[in-house]
Amino acid sequence: MSLLEVSGVSKSFVTGRDLLGRPARRHHAVQDVGFSMEKGECLAVVGESGAGKSTLGRIVLRLIRPDTGRITFDGVDVLAIGSREMRRLRQRMQMIFQDPYSSLDPRMSVAEAVAEPLLVHTDLDRATRSRRAAELLDRVGIGRRYLGRYPAELSGGQLQRVAIARALTLNPSLIVCDEPVAALDVSVRAQVLNLLRDLQEELGLSYLFVSHDLALVEVIADRVMVMAGGRVVEQGGVQQIFHSPTHEYTTRLLSAIPVPMPRDATGRRMILGGSGPSAHPKEEATP
Ligand SMILES: Nc1ncnc2c1ncn2[C@@H]1O[C@H](COP(=O)(O)OP(=O)(O)OP(=O)(O)O)[C@@H](O)[C@H]1O
Ligand SMILES: [Mg+2]
Repeated sequence: MSLLEVSGVSKSFVTGRDLLGRPARRHHAVQDVGFSMEKGECLAVVGESGAGKSTLGRIVLRLIRPDTGRITFDGVDVLAIGSREMRRLRQRMQMIFQDPYSSLDPRMSVAEAVAEPLLVHTDLDRATRSRRAAELLDRVGIGRRYLGRYPAELSGGQLQRVAIARALTLNPSLIVCDEPVAALDVSVRAQVLNLLRDLQEELGLSYLFVSHDLALVEVIADRVMVMAGGRVVEQGGVQQIFHSPTHEYTTRLLSAIPVPMPRDATGRRMILGGSGPSAHPKEEATP
């Protein structure tokens, strides 16, 4: 059984109404999308702006309800369960957003932000929650001296690390990463991407990795799904998509990759900026 199975998922948004307020125009953001994901796998979703990537990511987490379709997560029919059960299930599916500034509460300290999911979802005592938050922040390369700091005092890369730690607090098995490094300085991107890749391996995480940066995708993904106009136009192994795309749209997307990245001995593109993940948080600008 796959970790995640999605079939026939569609979602349209009302984009115009008539004089009586009845829907007059609809935009079909996601149309008849189907795919499955195994545990520990990274499936990239690529496509131009407006292709429906983020909408699909949100549908998977039931942050948006699709009009039609079926989603099973670990055998559970996600669209059929009640809100109580969904609350429990959501602990196992998390999301990391593009902009870490807006995904963290500016009034919460770093330690509080990471411990909060434990406060909401578990009955662990305060000391245990704090200890767990400190461990997680350590793991993502945020030193203990940052525990009491607030988002405004951290760099973009540090904030994204905090958001990653927060997403890991409840031991999820699936993380939807929506352009997780797109808003970061180029110099920090590789570090955060390496961190994500190490965490994936270490914790057996599955990523639904939304990105329009194909060079990144080739580094991190096992499989790639190409979306255009809400539909999946092609999906397959990362090597197949990159080296023998069958769809013209994919070829066009690929030809837009700006600078070729160096390849390692196996022919995989290497991440520039070293392989140590969290090992070099000090490279980031410290405010
Ligand atoms: N709540 C909404 N109401 C109306 N239209 C929406 C809504 N959310 C998304 N859309 C439309 O659906 C389409 C797909 O949006 P989506 O955000 O999923 O695209 P995307 O592939 O993530 O694009 P990007 O790469 O720019 O993030 C877009 O045309 C968008 O304008
Ligand atoms: Mg998007």
